Amino acid sequence: MRVCRLLQITSVIPVRFLKDMSRLLNPEFSEEETAKLGSACEHWGFFQLVNHGLDGGLLQQIKSDITEFFSLPLEEKLAVAIPPNGIQGFGHHFVFSKEQKLDWVDMLFLATRPVEERSLAFWPTKPSTFRDTLDMYSLELANVSAQLFKFMANNLGVNKEGLLGTFKGLPQSMRINYYPPCSQANKVLGLSPHTDGVGMTFLLQVNDVEGLQIRKDGKWFSVKAIPGALVVNIGDALEVLTNGQYKSIEHRAVINPVKERITIATFLSVNLGCTIGPLQELLKAGEARYKVLDGVEFTKGYFAAKLEGRRYLESLKLGI
Ligand code: OGA
Ligand code: NI
Repeated sequence: MRVCRLLQITSVIPVRFLKDMSRLLNPEFSEEETAKLGSACEHWGFFQLVNHGLDGGLLQQIKSDITEFFSLPLEEKLAVAIPPNGIQGFGHHFVFSKEQKLDWVDMLFLATRPVEERSLAFWPTKPSTFRDTLDMYSLELANVSAQLFKFMANNLGVNKEGLLGTFKGLPQSMRINYYPPCSQANKVLGLSPHTDGVGMTFLLQVNDVEGLQIRKDGKWFSVKAIPGALVVNIGDALEVLTNGQYKSIEHRAVINPVKERITIATFLSVNLGCTIGPLQELLKAGEARYKVLDGVEFTKGYFAAKLEGRRYLESLKLGI
């Protein structure tokens, strides 16, 4: 069953959320741009990254490969269907019971890094370029995330090895979201309000249909994706590690009445062998505000809590 809900009024988010990777990398501007990056992470947990260095041809290719995959007949997409109780593959995810109302979306979920942990059985072979394109995109985003962590460490005043250590091997997964149009679009949601249970997420709009909204101070804002930009949001793990300095932003996806919408979300997850808790270096100024969990407990807890706003994150807060 699909869900019916009334959407709250939204405002359009201002463009000052642009962060420029070429300025971060340029010694002349790096300090200023790093401060802006930090401010966006602290106040919104969200920004759009431009001049990120990803090849325009690669972005075009991934967009066309994904669009082609979703336009295949259902039987062909089911070649990579998610098995019962499985995690990876094509179909509905986050299904916990038969009575549950489902979000208005089909997904293809894949673990993409470390490379040795890929289950290629779930990687489409149609179109024939799909696997190679996804592999290249995955590597490029691993590099971008490693660079961003360095600038975040500078901004936070922590050792970059300490921050990067939690994300050792840059564990990464991708969720390709296909939102069909719905004539009663204001009565359904593509993705229910949630936070991402990871370090950070990179969202690329595969076609030009908007639909992402973020929530701040109880108010929903529509995100107008800048062409070619990567929409980045901070996830739960980074909020915990920074002891609340960076915010894991609550967000949702809305549906267009006439056009399909396709996005690819790339998640940078914690290393399951690491401990997730506030970084010691940030505790000089105050007490820890979040529980410490190991990577496996942290990740299991996120999925068990289902997609429900900031519920999981709030459950990790210590009562101070
Ligand atoms: C997600 C997500 C938003 C979108 O996949 O976690 O928040 O606009 N996607 O597709
Ligand atoms: Ni999300």
